[in-house]
Amino acid sequence: MKTQVAIIGGGPSGLLLSQLLHKRGIESVILERKTKDYVLGRIRAGVLEQGLVKLLEEAGCADRLHAEGIVHDGTLVSSGDTLFRIDFTEHTGTPVIVYGQTEVTRDLYAAREAMGGKIEFNVENVEIHDANSDAPAVTYTVGDQQHRLECDFIAGCDGFHGVSRQAIPLDVRKEYEKVYPFGWLGILSETPPVNHELIYANSDRGFALCSMRNENLSRYYIQCSLSDKPEDWTDEAFWQELKRRIPSEQAEKLVTGPSIEKSIAPLRSFVTEPMRWGRLFLCGDAAHIVPPTGAKGLNTAASDVHYLYNGLRDYYENNSRAGIDSYSQKALARVWKAERFSWWFSSLMHRYPDQSEFDLKMQVAEIEFLRTNEAAQKSMAENYVGLPY
Ligand code: APR
Ligand code: PHB
Repeated sequence: MKTQVAIIGGGPSGLLLSQLLHKRGIESVILERKTKDYVLGRIRAGVLEQGLVKLLEEAGCADRLHAEGIVHDGTLVSSGDTLFRIDFTEHTGTPVIVYGQTEVTRDLYAAREAMGGKIEFNVENVEIHDANSDAPAVTYTVGDQQHRLECDFIAGCDGFHGVSRQAIPLDVRKEYEKVYPFGWLGILSETPPVNHELIYANSDRGFALCSMRNENLSRYYIQCSLSDKPEDWTDEAFWQELKRRIPSEQAEKLVTGPSIEKSIAPLRSFVTEPMRWGRLFLCGDAAHIVPPTGAKGLNTAASDVHYLYNGLRDYYENNSRAGIDSYSQKALARVWKAERFSWWFSSLMHRYPDQSEFDLKMQVAEIEFLRTNEAAQKSMAENYVGLPY
């Protein structure tokens, strides 16, 4: 089989790239290890930057997002009982949209299927061949059938645990990593959100986040120990702990209910450089991971897709290699800014086991500076709504 762009991974990065390429008549085949239902079952965050919204509009996949998404002009930040608001629209003129990233993935699958997009599910033994040549290929099996996909380019959209990153030789690839000493215990409940905007809460018992999916579906998180398991936490224990971490006025109006999903996610910052090797291009979680404080995961994958899509368009439409040759440098410039913001916001809002008294004083002072300084709030707003592509 032959195609123009072989895309490894049928998560949001791979799907969005495939859909954008298709709109320009550029052929691709997506190779996905799991089933569609499995991919749609992955728990994902719920905040979209305008850059991602615009890409989804360009891909023709934004109708439901605009019909069901919730426009947020700001977010609340609390420290103990002190609560203040960061006004995105006042500082940047741009809101964010709250819409489950799982729904983004669902919309992308629907668009791919409507356009007859080629997606192979349950692929195994994916191997990348001759990426650093003008004739790359991907081999894989489905069941007991061996397949070989000849292509012009390979997009490694196969996430943190994929094979694409490993295809870049160790003497070419450099990896940067920070593992955080805590996780996020998250629940989904069919209850009205405690507040119409998100609340990022710092407390002496640790971080908490109040988010939502719609007016009757709430998403809450509390910082937890890495040794915790979801089954260690009853719903009641979760609600009691959440109430102790958010301002008392919010805790009093919190509507609790049974969890319909409960899971723990570890937190990590990770970047691999370069994001290109020959005709292999890494996109999204295959190249970088952020802690979810600020919801930069998919929103940073989106700018990778934007750069790669335009680079490939330039190649096929204008016979220019400029876009693909500058892809890694352009993508990494924005990746590192998202890494910095996610690390900064995580450092600001969480309790770290090794924090000294002085460290705690610095954290309190940093939050107080954010609460009282316009430039600090503008900086946070600009990063939160998404820096330019
Ligand atoms: N072969 C084929 N497919 C693979 C392989 C492989 N060897 N390894 C992984 N995959 C598939 C996974 O099954 C998954 O569906 O690649 C896909 C990668 O998808 P994600 O992990 O969701 O990564 P990405 O598409 O980059 O999405 C990034 O979305 O919701 C956010 O926070 C989330 O940051 C994440 C972002
Ligand atoms: C979510 O709604 O799941 C969410 C929102 C904001 C974050 C992380 C997760 O920073």
